[in-house]
Amino acid sequence: MLSRIKDIAAKLAPRLIEIRRHIHSRPELSGQEYKTAAYVAGVLSSCGLHVQELVGKTGVVAELAGASTDSRLLAIRADMDALPIQEQTHLEFASQQPGIMHACGHDVHTTVGLGTAMVLAELGDPLPGSIRFLFQPAEETAQGAGWMIRDGAMNNVSAILGVHVFPTIPGGSIGIRYGALTAAADDLELTIIGESGHGARPHEAIDAIWIAAQVITTLQQAISRTHNPLRPVVLTIGQIQGGRAPNVIADQVRLLGTVRSLHPETSAALPEWIESIVSSVCKMYGAKYVMDYRRGVPSVQNDPVLTQLTESAAIEAWGNSRVQMLYEPSLGAEDFSLYLEHAPGTMFRLGVAVTDRPNYPLHHPQFHVDESAILTGVVTMAYSAYKYWFHR
Ligand code: NI
Repeated sequence: MLSRIKDIAAKLAPRLIEIRRHIHSRPELSGQEYKTAAYVAGVLSSCGLHVQELVGKTGVVAELAGASTDSRLLAIRADMDALPIQEQTHLEFASQQPGIMHACGHDVHTTVGLGTAMVLAELGDPLPGSIRFLFQPAEETAQGAGWMIRDGAMNNVSAILGVHVFPTIPGGSIGIRYGALTAAADDLELTIIGESGHGARPHEAIDAIWIAAQVITTLQQAISRTHNPLRPVVLTIGQIQGGRAPNVIADQVRLLGTVRSLHPETSAALPEWIESIVSSVCKMYGAKYVMDYRRGVPSVQNDPVLTQLTESAAIEAWGNSRVQMLYEPSLGAEDFSLYLEHAPGTMFRLGVAVTDRPNYPLHHPQFHVDESAILTGVVTMAYSAYKYWFHR
């Protein structure tokens, strides 16, 4: 079956590159993926899948019917949105939309999703069970997965597979990670409320700027002294506002930040832990505070059984030398984690680095990919999806 999948994919490869370039040159921002979605739906319908549009606002869901001898339902997820970045690659198929660019490889993910559907549809004999393809909007704003789930995209799903490109892995190689792949990312908004006064008479005021500085320092020190260092937490205050004049003691300071962690238990405990520090520091100096801790997305925790499935599929397809174990997770965030609250799943990394010129990180205006990796991604995904029915 592997050689059959490889043959079909190789035959489709030029068409897949065409598809990727079509999507790449017409990027759309999160939640506005109307043309991309219509194009995706067209490709899926033409391979005979049952397609539903406008799921999760601008998402597309398509089902490849199986023989129903296995009642499980496998989902495969791709994301379709681009970023507000002016592309500077000078590629012939570069973005035609000023200020919008597929700089995170979601054009490749969408193509891999479509290619997988095309290959599996062309196998002829139906698989034992059905496969549902999810093409989601708005991954970059961490909203799309939630929209899809609200519209029922995860109903009855038994397992889910996903892929993300990676510019530090050579093109044509696959990265496999057991356990945490990406971090939980939450938003912190904090207002420290003191009392205004004359800059010359600090004892008659409550200096919100100084107390905010104490809060920041205490939080950073407490991370290093009270948290298990093997369970990382990153707290970045990226924005701070307060004060009116150099000689007036500030009565209010607003702090905005992002909080990242990898372990679910650590993540669960963070709001209370942060608040206990903020409240003790404020209390010590007579200030009040308002804290708004907004949950973003949880950490992607790759399921061991499904990770082993994609690992063995990739090794069979490409050999050990083209399959890398990733020993470190990323502290970036990925809303694929929201699907994992409904079914176990795994996301593998698709290497897209080229050897003949410099590679740029994700979200860079010169980010580019080794297009031959699309074939690697399609075969790995399609063969994993095939093996799923025979792997327990
Ligand atoms: Ni991305």
